[in-house]
Parts: sequence; C-alpha cells; structure tokens
Amino acid sequence: MEFSTKALPPEKDKTDCLVVGIFEGKKLSAAAKAVDDLTSKAITAVLRSGDITGKTGSCLMLRKLEGIPAQRLLLVGLGKEDEASLKSYREVLTSAFKAIAATQSVSASIHLTSDHHAGLDGESLLEHAVVIAEEISYKPPRPGMKVTKEEAVTLTKVTFAPPADTDAKSLTRGVLRGTAIAHGQNLARDLGNLPPNICTPSYLAQAAKNLGRSHKLKVTVLEEAHMRKLGMHTLLAVSQGSRQAPKFIVLEYNGGGKKKPIALVGKGITFDTGGISIKSASEMDEMKYDMCGAASVLGTLQTVAELKLPLNVVGVIPSCENMPDGQATRPGDIVTSMSGKTVEILNTDAEGRLILCDALTYTERFKPDAVVDIATLTGACVVALGSVASGLFSNQDSLADELLEAGVSAHDRAWHMPIWDDYQPMLKTNFADIQNIGGRMAGAITAACFLARFAESYHWAHLDIAGTAWKGGGDKGATGRPVGLLAHFLMGRAAK
Ligand code: BES
Ligand code: MN
Ligand code: ZN
Repeated sequence: MEFSTKALPPEKDKTDCLVVGIFEGKKLSAAAKAVDDLTSKAITAVLRSGDITGKTGSCLMLRKLEGIPAQRLLLVGLGKEDEASLKSYREVLTSAFKAIAATQSVSASIHLTSDHHAGLDGESLLEHAVVIAEEISYKPPRPGMKVTKEEAVTLTKVTFAPPADTDAKSLTRGVLRGTAIAHGQNLARDLGNLPPNICTPSYLAQAAKNLGRSHKLKVTVLEEAHMRKLGMHTLLAVSQGSRQAPKFIVLEYNGGGKKKPIALVGKGITFDTGGISIKSASEMDEMKYDMCGAASVLGTLQTVAELKLPLNVVGVIPSCENMPDGQATRPGDIVTSMSGKTVEILNTDAEGRLILCDALTYTERFKPDAVVDIATLTGACVVALGSVASGLFSNQDSLADELLEAGVSAHDRAWHMPIWDDYQPMLKTNFADIQNIGGRMAGAITAACFLARFAESYHWAHLDIAGTAWKGGGDKGATGRPVGLLAHFLMGRAAK
C-alpha cells in the first residue's frame, strides 16, 4: 500500500473513495462541510433523512454525487466532538477501511486524519492510520490457493489529509513509523497463520535468515548438537519427542554502536500437542500459534531495522515442537538446565518455560541492558485478562512502567501482574531445584515466577501473550501483537 499526505481539495479529487467525518449530533467536520457545499447540500439531506447520525464508526457509502469527481463518498461517524480519544479514533478508521474494502476501490482519500484530534500529535495520528489501513487489508497466506479476480482488486493508494499544525517532516515520520510497524506486524501474522506442517522450527530459522539478508542483521542458527554442548537440556527435553529438528535462532541488529543491547526472547513452539500430558482435541489446531512470541521477535526486528533505530537489539528464539512419542519426555523426568538448576518436569504441557529458561540463560552472554521475553505461555493468563491485555511481569518496576506506557501509546496494552517471592513455594519439589508447574492457582504468575529464577542477573520482563497473539472462532487469525508495544518500547529507548 502506498501512502501520501498531500490531499487534493474535494472538487479536484478523482479518488475512488472520498472519506469525510460527521460528529455525533449531526455536526459536519470541516471536510464534510466543504463537500456539502460542492454537492448542493447532499450531506445535509442525508443527515436529515437520519441514515447516519455520527455515532463513532458508523458508516454510509454514497455513489457518484453531482459536484465532486470522486467515484464514492463515504461518511463516517466521529462520535462526540469533545470525547475524542485514541480508542475512538482507531474505531473510526477501522470502520472506514472496512467499508472501503467492501467496495472495489483502489484509491482513497481520507479526511478523518485532519478532523479527529484524539489529543494526539499529527505524527501519531498518521502512524495509527497507516497501521490500521494495513491491518484491515491484511490477508493471511493460503498455501495452495489461487487469488480470485475480485480479491485481486485491493486498496493500494491511500491519501491522508494532514492533521492540523503538523510540519512536513512529522508527516513523513508518522507514515514511516506506521509503515514499519505494519510490516513487522504482517510478518508476525504471516508466520503465526501458516499451518504447523509448513511453519516448523527449520522454517522459522529460514525466515530469520531471509530477514537478516534483507535487513542487514547478523543471524546465527544453533543446531541440536550445539545446544547439547551448551547444556540446554530443558529445551531438548521438550524437543525429543518430535521428528522436527530444534533450532536456536539468534538475530543481532547493530544500530547503536557500543551501547548495551536490549534482548527480545520469543517462545517458538511451532506446535504444542502438550506432549505425553496431551491436550484435549478441541481447538488443538490453535496450538500452531504457540510460536507467536518468536514471530513477534522477528516482526519487531524488521520494524527496528526499517526505522534504523540507534540501538542494539538481539533476538533470541528457542524453537521446537512439543509432541508425544516413544522418545518423548515423561512426567516425572528430571533434567539439568543450562543454568545448572535441575528441573522436575511434572507436566510436559508446561513446555514454554522449559525452552525459555535455557534461552534466558543463553542471553546472559550479551550482557543486556534489559531482556523482554514474549510467550504464549499460559491458558491461565487468558482466563485472567482475556484478549484485551497481555500479562506483564518484571523484576524491575521502571522497566514494567516503560512497557505499560508503550502498550498504551501503541494501543497494544499490557497489565502489570505480581511475581512476589510469596509464590515461589508453589514451585518447590523434594527431588530437584524447581518443578515446572505450580498447581491449580495463579497459573500465569507461577509460570512467570519459574522464568524469574533464570533471569536474576539482569533487568527482565515477561509478556504472556496467550490471550492477545491470535483470535479464535470465525475471526481466526494472528493479530501481530505485541509488535506495536515492542516497537514503541524500543522507539522510546532510542529517544532516550
Ligand atoms: N501454549 C500453552 C498455553 C496456551 C494454552 C495458550 C491455551 C493459549 C491457549 C502452554 O504451553 C500450556 O500448555 N500451558 C499450560 C500450563 C499448565 C500445564 C501448567 C496451560 O496453560 O494449561
Ligand atoms: Mn503446552
Ligand atoms: Zn505451549
């Protein structure tokens, strides 16, 4: 999709779809007023009919109005003028792009960016508009399927009317930021949506190498023998029931000279059957999304590289499959992690923490300024927070605050949860240093507390994205979260 911020006046704009806003209470925005005057009050007449009232996100598509050269005019409700927020702004743009996508429009001129203020600067307004445009036009990969004629016609040229008081540089920066974030999210969505027979650990390793080649990242892939030599026995315990070779993927983005790096560690289970502690059949297909943490690391690195942020960022992705088999780990097995701590594996379905603990130990070698792991870790987190917020856990409050704020500004929010020592006794066992499950209560917290034991040597945060990384049901698909949050976090670090 191509974006520009040079809107033509409506009397000259031959766009396929001209989009203007109406405030609740039937008040015309500035752009709507201009179009109304050109069309002998066509909008006023529609408002009088009651077909649109201005409620946030309501839409009405009109065709070929006398007085303007545009093929279509889309009226979009902006809500109450004095109640504009980032949330309502995003709702407005989302419905507008959905309404455009339902037509055969190839070009659109959006005047909502200039008439809805949401208390944000122009740069951010454009960033969000671009991100939403790309999100609505996103189509998942469909291996083996052909694109139909109608599907081939998509929106490709979008013009945004520039928000008030925004200089040319900020306009360009807003579009650039939005585009880079959208590209990162699209990569994360594509990898998440691919079927698990295609998106294997080897496929993720190849995707990392491709990203490295196109965006000048150093990419290293460790094979099983190397992992064994490093002592990654908790990771290998998860992998040993699978025919797929495990891969340990490391990506290094170097844009910050001698600065200490920020490390992103992503859970890359390409399919989670539960192993011998096997899951029930219903919705098990969704466990192809158990690599969405890994996908968000790749996506975020793409965004960071596109924005050329003055930072050093390391991506660490432990990747394997969790399968039941004659060689698979049994409940009760005890293994020694790379850190030297012994782990009693009481439930083979609590595998995410087993691959992450070795990855967290490995990450120490980068002497990171901060480490953030991202994982579809627990069903308990979905019970606690649903699909609205990711669970956030940290051993440093200021790091947690930075991530919370990044989530708000990207509208990709997280909620701070505790990892107090008081929970640690739930992981006690008579036979090893730690057990891999904590019992029925506080499942998201005990999982985070397990990880915390392997992250004691640096500032660390953990994002449990089990409820936010994908949608189930009829709307099934990866969301691209939390690439937005992570990108905003890193942009914040870069500005420091
Ligand atoms: N990948 C799952 C977590 C998950 C489950 C995410 C459902 C989204 C939806 C993880 O590996 C897992 O199976 N966790 C177990 C942990 C339990 C055995 C302590 C869970 O949440 O049930
Ligand atoms: Mn599991
Ligand atoms: Zn899992």
